[in-house]
Amino acid sequence: MADTSDLLATDLPIVAAPMAGGPGSTALAGAVAAAGGFPFVAGGYLTGAAFAEQVRAVQALGVPFGVNLFVPADAADDELDMAAFAAYAARLQPEAGRHGLTLDPRPVTGDRDAWPEKLEQLLADPVTVVSLTFGLPATADIAALRRAGSRVLATVTTAEEARAARDAGVDGLVVQGPAAGGHSGTWDPARTITPVRTADLVRDVVAAAGLPVIAAGGVDGADAVRDLRAAGAEAVAVGTLLLRTDEAGTTPTHRNALTNPALGPTVITRAFTGRPARGLRNGFIDAHESAAPLGYPAIHHLTRPLRRAAADAGDPDRVHLWAGTGYTKARTGPAGDAVRDLARLL
Ligand SMILES: Cc1cc2nc3c(=O)[nH]c(=O)nc-3n(C[C@H](O)[C@H](O)[C@H](O)COP(=O)(O)O)c2cc1C
Repeated sequence: MADTSDLLATDLPIVAAPMAGGPGSTALAGAVAAAGGFPFVAGGYLTGAAFAEQVRAVQALGVPFGVNLFVPADAADDELDMAAFAAYAARLQPEAGRHGLTLDPRPVTGDRDAWPEKLEQLLADPVTVVSLTFGLPATADIAALRRAGSRVLATVTTAEEARAARDAGVDGLVVQGPAAGGHSGTWDPARTITPVRTADLVRDVVAAAGLPVIAAGGVDGADAVRDLRAAGAEAVAVGTLLLRTDEAGTTPTHRNALTNPALGPTVITRAFTGRPARGLRNGFIDAHESAAPLGYPAIHHLTRPLRRAAADAGDPDRVHLWAGTGYTKARTGPAGDAVRDLARLL
């Protein structure tokens, strides 16, 4: 087994998974890279301008890194069930009212997560690695990124997605098991996310697609890293284990929640954003999961003001507390220590 990851060319085969919405800070990228790991800039949710600024900030550190993009679903607006959306907005309004907010009952439409602007930026100023989640873009976009000099990775959650990604011409795969914190990268948000160990999924995907693999999901320490490498992963990505580190941009409300015995364990929910994601079970999930419609990104936009206000107010019961199954092992202190510790059994 190679000591290092060929795909990423780092000293340690440890990846700081992209974490959009704040936790994946520039400081975290720098600390992970300094320890010999490979960090990702989370491009999701950012405007084109904010994305360019964030990429430039990490470029200025002079370290290897990758960039992660959300792939927009072309049919998202057409597929939104307007009646279900309106009913959900009405249901959530009393919660929002407690934070002095009025939710917009009309869905935000046309949100493509600034895909064209982000693609243009990456073609003009290429980075080493571009990873994609939530699906695949046009094969012409994948080819253009590769021609510009980037290695393109697709996040996959099943062997079928892995084969389709290989056929679309990607260089490697991020295999995300359902134990992962945050959104599932599933290409089909309506799919029931069935339990499977990440190591078993890695074996299936390696056999099915024959591409280099980064494994992610539920990593809770060095043993898990060793097992995933033994299953065939070149490198192992961690998100949750970095959420409490000094350099992460995690909000205090989210940080505190990770050690709050009244919250958790983790569950897969679509109540916050309209697509499946794993987070700590809290009052919002208990109250609304049964009524939550599919509909990313419209549901994400609907609940966002409430989640922001709740995070600012230190109210963990109305915030999406993304976390993977290994969250009790998330440690404080420098991220570099966490990265080195994860590689200690290799
Ligand atoms: C707070 C948070 C934000 C995330 N944001 C993204 C993202 O922007 N893009 C992405 O591909 N995955 C995202 N993920 C998933 C991670 O990339 C990764 O798959 C996951 O963290 C691995 O599982 P673990 O959390 O158990 O280590 C996020 C995860 C968390 C916890």
